[in-house]
Amino acid sequence: MLNIVRRIRDLYRLNRIVPLVKSGQSIEFKIPNDKIKKVVKHINLEELKVGDVKKISIFKNGDLINFIFLVLPEDEPDLFSVAELGRKTINSLDKKELKSIDYTEIEALYKSKNSYRFSRAFFEGMLYGLYTFDKYKEGNQKHDGIEISISEKFYDFSLKSGIVDEMNILFKNIYMARDLINTPPNDLTPHNFASFIKGNSNDKLNINVLYHGDIKENGLNLIYAVGNGSEHKPCLVRIDYEGKPESKDKIVLVGKGVTFDSGGTNLKPTGSIETMKSDMSGAASVYAIMKSISESSLPVNVTAFLPLVENTIGATAYRPGDIIRSFSGKTVEVLNTDAEGRLVLADSLSMALKENPSLIIDMATLTGACVVALGSNIAGYFSNDDNYACKLEKSFVDNYEDICRLPLYAKYKDRLKSKIADLQNISKKRTEAGAIMGALFLQEFVGNSPWIHIDIAGPAFIEDNHPVFGEGGSGYGIRSLYNFIKCNFSS
Ligand code: BES
Ligand code: MG
Ligand code: ZN
Repeated sequence: MLNIVRRIRDLYRLNRIVPLVKSGQSIEFKIPNDKIKKVVKHINLEELKVGDVKKISIFKNGDLINFIFLVLPEDEPDLFSVAELGRKTINSLDKKELKSIDYTEIEALYKSKNSYRFSRAFFEGMLYGLYTFDKYKEGNQKHDGIEISISEKFYDFSLKSGIVDEMNILFKNIYMARDLINTPPNDLTPHNFASFIKGNSNDKLNINVLYHGDIKENGLNLIYAVGNGSEHKPCLVRIDYEGKPESKDKIVLVGKGVTFDSGGTNLKPTGSIETMKSDMSGAASVYAIMKSISESSLPVNVTAFLPLVENTIGATAYRPGDIIRSFSGKTVEVLNTDAEGRLVLADSLSMALKENPSLIIDMATLTGACVVALGSNIAGYFSNDDNYACKLEKSFVDNYEDICRLPLYAKYKDRLKSKIADLQNISKKRTEAGAIMGALFLQEFVGNSPWIHIDIAGPAFIEDNHPVFGEGGSGYGIRSLYNFIKCNFSS
């Protein structure tokens, strides 16, 4: 997908990227090059501001050559802005025709010893920008990837550090997750999703699927109840990866996989229902993380549980008022069939707990309240373990995926007590603290195990336009969680 080759020392390549530095009111060239100065004459430097991407096209020997000028700040930029420049660069070119780019590295402009991460963020922004979802359009074509010519120094670094291979693995899987999220719910049913996972995995991943009957037999009654309204019956996918057989340590990942969330009998209104094909983003992202871990052969043991269900309205659907005995034994009074994510996750978290894990992480498009609180760029996370919470947050910051910790506020636990069952699935105070109440409900099923819950309802699916991810299914969190596991558990 991304192929980095040594720079060909020819200024007039078809697509040439030139970083400029803005200090105060003027633009400086930190990379002096008289030939570039000739091209720069065509732009009004005074008009440019930090963050601009300006394209100048010139004809040379019958070829149209694009010079793309990036305007960077004099002080070290943040990685998010650099990735944003990468995406803007791709968007300034014809994506379909784009085959190669000659790239003047950004890291040479700054002094810090980790300056290579600027180039990495720029490439990542380009890769996010190259993604398109046009499978359902006439005349669609797959992009074969892009070749980038760079300096000797960065080339050596990228070979030694293996970052190009890793970026390729991660982005291939991010594209896969984005495709799954964007696929309409008539094509991505629970069964089709499970079949896709079985057909797409390598032999380092062990896949086991519990189907409708098995789910009932095993007493996974919450998953069974939520999925029972649909003709497309539920399944629970289990994925095992054993990269460190000599150790018993294990991480368990859980991903919410509601292939369509109509709200059930508590039907969602127009305006909230249209994007609910994306309610399986947690499952798609966890699968992409498992694939990336296995393809990079990380020395770590990880198991994943993906409850795949369709939450529909209908004759066999569960009802507000139903009381269901969960796999854990706790009974749950369903007071709102639209709070279905916490139900399917509850049984999956109980399964996770049986594995005696060092850490459980779940990813879920759980609450609209989290989007109200933090907006669509930022995920909320909750944890009962400060040490892991800190490390997780660091990984999200390093990978410039925005996240914010919210409290597991124990004094609100009473609000989930049902009069006639052990728990109810929504809070007694319906209009308050929705994201916290979802997390507190999940906490009832993780015992004393270290656990992190990530509510990705905002960033998983972008309705307008995110500066780095663009539109639609984003693949949010895949890079950060992969790196969190790589840096903290594999050794
Ligand atoms: N899938 C939704 C949450 C959601 C909302 C995800 C917006 C992405 C964007 C979830 O199942 C849901 O419907 N939650 C309810 C909970 C409520 C009934 C307590 C909500 O947020 O309104
Ligand atoms: Mg719902
Ligand atoms: Zn949902």
